Amino acid sequence: MVYQQIIAEVKENIFYITINREQKLNALNKEVLTELAHAIKFATQSDEIRGVLLTGAGEKAFVAGADISEFQNYSLAEGKELAKVGQTNVFDAIENCPKPVVAAINGFALGGGLELAMACHIRIASENAKLGLPEVTLGLIPGYGGTQRLTQLVGKGRAIEMITTADMITAEKAYRIGLVNEVVPQAELISKAEEILNKIKQRAPLAIASAIKAVNSSLKNNVNGFDIEIEEFAKCFQTEDFKEGVGAFLEKRKAVFKGE
Ligand code: COA
Repeated sequence: MVYQQIIAEVKENIFYITINREQKLNALNKEVLTELAHAIKFATQSDEIRGVLLTGAGEKAFVAGADISEFQNYSLAEGKELAKVGQTNVFDAIENCPKPVVAAINGFALGGGLELAMACHIRIASENAKLGLPEVTLGLIPGYGGTQRLTQLVGKGRAIEMITTADMITAEKAYRIGLVNEVVPQAELISKAEEILNKIKQRAPLAIASAIKAVNSSLKNNVNGFDIEIEEFAKCFQTEDFKEGVGAFLEKRKAVFKGE
């Protein structure tokens, strides 16, 4: 697929995805969502990719939300379809991606933009970032998992306050309440995200995938996370990576993992 709205490239086992609608503050229109869905599927399936760095073009916005102009005349059925398709193909696909996805939040992360960042596994924000879920100012609520993921990350009280006031918060406050993992000057944002991904890419890929699955299952109502952990833990013993990791430790050398 040739992308028009995002830039996607693999460099040294990291998949860089940049949402590229700077003039519209990288708002998520249908094409962006389709291309993101495709890119995440590609990252999930590629053996070369060990981690994903997701950001927005420019210095002003990560993503300023779903493209408001697109859903102006939507009916109940269309609204339901929008949320369902988006959640399944993009937001849940990111959350369930076996490669860690790091959001580099380089400015506004509002509405669907904050929901996108929250679907990622790790969030790094630049000092100028502003985060919020302003949907109620439009007569809507978050539809891409925001009510669930914000509550999981910051707790019910803070989530209801942010969603019902529609207030934007600073990067510093987002850090304080656990919404982002770190805050750095804008000039250091990508290098901080790369630093984390460069560390992750040296670890055993199948164990990373198992860890993501087990952690995610702690927040799913229909599965027992402890059971998933037992299964995933046991699966690791069958991998070549496990043999390599233990062998390298005993031989006092650095492990080289192949994801097998
Ligand atoms: N959907 C569609 N277009 C958007 C957008 C969105 N969510 N957010 C910004 N844009 C567009 C603006 O319409 C404007 O386009 P134009 O130049 O063709 O008029 C362009 O991006 C720049 O935005 P602008 O509003 O001029 O920038 P600003 O610095 O004055 O304000 C924001 C920045 C983020 C505060 C403001 O753009 C905003 O409130 N955006 C909507 C946020 C929102 O409600 N998101 C949730 C959607 S569910």
